[in-house]
Amino acid sequence: MDIKSKIEALRKEINSHNYRYYVENYPVISDFDFDVLLRELQDMESSYPQFDDINSPTKRVGSDQSNGFESVKHRYPMLSLSNTYSQDELSDFCRKVEEELESSVEYVCELKFDGTAICIIYEDGKLLKAVTRGDGTSGDDVTENVRTINSVPLELHGSGYPDYFEVRGEILLPYSSFDRLNADRELNDEQPFANPRNAAAGTLKLQNSSVVAKRNLDCYIYNLLGENLPYKNHYDNIQQLKKWGFKVSEHVKRCSNINDIWSYVESIDKLRVELPYATDGVVVKVNRYDIQKQLGTTAKAPKWSVAYKFKAEQALTKLISVDFQVGRTGAITPVANLEPVQLAGTTVKRASLHNSDQITLLDIRVGDMVYVEKGGEIIPKITEVELSMRSSESEVFEYIFSCPECGTPLVRFEGEAKSYCPNQGGCAPQILGRIEHFVARKGMNIDGLGGETIVLLHNNGLVNNIADLYSLRHDQLESLPRLGTKSADNIVKGVANSRNIPFSRVLFALGIRFVGETTAKYIASHFKTLDAIMSASVEQLIEADEVGSKIAESIQDYFKDENNLDIIRRLSAANLQMSAESVELVSDNLSGKSFVISGSFILHSRDELKAIIEQHGGKILSSVSSNTNYLIAGTKIGPAKLTKATKLNIKIISENEFINMVSPSVDVKVNTIEIENVNNITQGSLF
Ligand code: IVH
Repeated sequence: MDIKSKIEALRKEINSHNYRYYVENYPVISDFDFDVLLRELQDMESSYPQFDDINSPTKRVGSDQSNGFESVKHRYPMLSLSNTYSQDELSDFCRKVEEELESSVEYVCELKFDGTAICIIYEDGKLLKAVTRGDGTSGDDVTENVRTINSVPLELHGSGYPDYFEVRGEILLPYSSFDRLNADRELNDEQPFANPRNAAAGTLKLQNSSVVAKRNLDCYIYNLLGENLPYKNHYDNIQQLKKWGFKVSEHVKRCSNINDIWSYVESIDKLRVELPYATDGVVVKVNRYDIQKQLGTTAKAPKWSVAYKFKAEQALTKLISVDFQVGRTGAITPVANLEPVQLAGTTVKRASLHNSDQITLLDIRVGDMVYVEKGGEIIPKITEVELSMRSSESEVFEYIFSCPECGTPLVRFEGEAKSYCPNQGGCAPQILGRIEHFVARKGMNIDGLGGETIVLLHNNGLVNNIADLYSLRHDQLESLPRLGTKSADNIVKGVANSRNIPFSRVLFALGIRFVGETTAKYIASHFKTLDAIMSASVEQLIEADEVGSKIAESIQDYFKDENNLDIIRRLSAANLQMSAESVELVSDNLSGKSFVISGSFILHSRDELKAIIEQHGGKILSSVSSNTNYLIAGTKIGPAKLTKATKLNIKIISENEFINMVSPSVDVKVNTIEIENVNNITQGSLF
């Protein structure tokens, strides 16, 4: 290949990785491999400047900006850091700094957090704005979302802060929250996030800040910028930030030479496995600001700082075979079977391959020696093939065209990376998966029906779909091997009890693609009956909270299927709850009015308030928008909701003001004196 074509091929490859990383939030190679590619391109471009191109991926820092957020120009550009993976290059950095200054200097060593960068602006001691890095020059205004992060102070503690200043830091999703989030996403048929970094970045870009609030993001601050800062060096200012209420890492250390720095690096490499959040290296910064200024910056990164990155732990092992798993929705997931190998303290035998694109991109072949890596991910992944060890007889991997379980030709939907088996009614893992989902605790909660029992019932021809569960007889169950009278009792009782499960859970249990637990609740409370959902158009479905066109289309597809319709008819005949309990109207005082409830209340629980609204003909919304008439504000109300309501001129009322709106028909169960007291408390703590 000639030089020009090689450069172009590299650019194309890097662009495709950038797209996966920034747009799809789903990288397929490690940061290290990405950096190697980028460096290779940088080297080639500087050796062959005749092939320069302003659109080369080396010319940008990467952008995280997306539509729907207001773009804000950074007062101080958000630069990147130069990276190295080598001890020698780290020493070179110190040598160059000290040569330039002709003296020794003090450094500050810190953790390199592996999340997403944020700039937070404070004015008069109050949080004014939070902006993503974007392209380094301007970023997205994500203030509402950042306000939900508990470790970010909304008002500063102490005194002595400048009227205006900015802090820079990293937004992280702790491993525990990441695991929970991904478990939920898998349950709801949503693509899990590849690692906590992508999950943090994706969460920060959500349009609904109440969802952000539930995800438990955290934020560590690592830089202070502005005029009239209290100290003339980085370390002291960072310590001061703690006193103003910011979360600053306790692992910030002053070092006076490369030996100190290296000891710090080694200690952090050991410590990081115990930290509850992801880190991928160490950042070294020159401490004094005047020296930082003297050293200056390049277009992309400061010359007074460098990041030493830890290579993710890797192991080399043999790819023995590839299995294909079929999920309950028919989605096919390739899984690599590996020769067992030790990696980060555990034995790895299997690795995720995600989809056919990744296999093609990495040109993975059975028999290859492959590198497996465990980043923040739960399941290890194959990141690279050791081509030098490839057998000359190896053959390009052929992805399957038909279902490994039932032989049906696979289909691939536009815009989706996975293939699907369309044989919903006849493909065993799909049938079993749907039944397991239906009986699960969050669905119909049928005791006594575990995975093995479902297989047993299926193999004996007793259940082929969820409706069959309601025809099961005690004598049929009792006579099955391994199921005695007691188990049969349990199953029959569990099935009978499931008839009382509320409609929203029945809707979730049906297993409609993309209709998770929360979405099912919103849909059930919006439409009230299954009939209404089945006859709703896409436009009408979208009117329910949290329902977008993807979910609406999936709902319609589900109800277009004759088999599903037959199942629904049978479930209805079996007396399952097919409508939300109807609300008896007490009055129509609130008719045409919509309410958002936020905070904690003293007289009523939130559910009681909701019931009162419905009993009086009002509507409950989950988030503040221009359609909201009233925000009922309790104590501990989310500041984002208050700000948004004020901005949109929505009337903010206390619990008592709300009660007065429906009074005298509401039985408030307390006497007037108590109400007056409560009124004072609520108002006092709110306004
Ligand atoms: S200082 C001008 N300190 O690393 C210096 N950055 O590649 C700007 N990062 O996007 C950054 N931990 O989000 C700094 N202790 C730390 C850091 C840190 C993580 C991230 C930062 C930036 C990236 C730079």
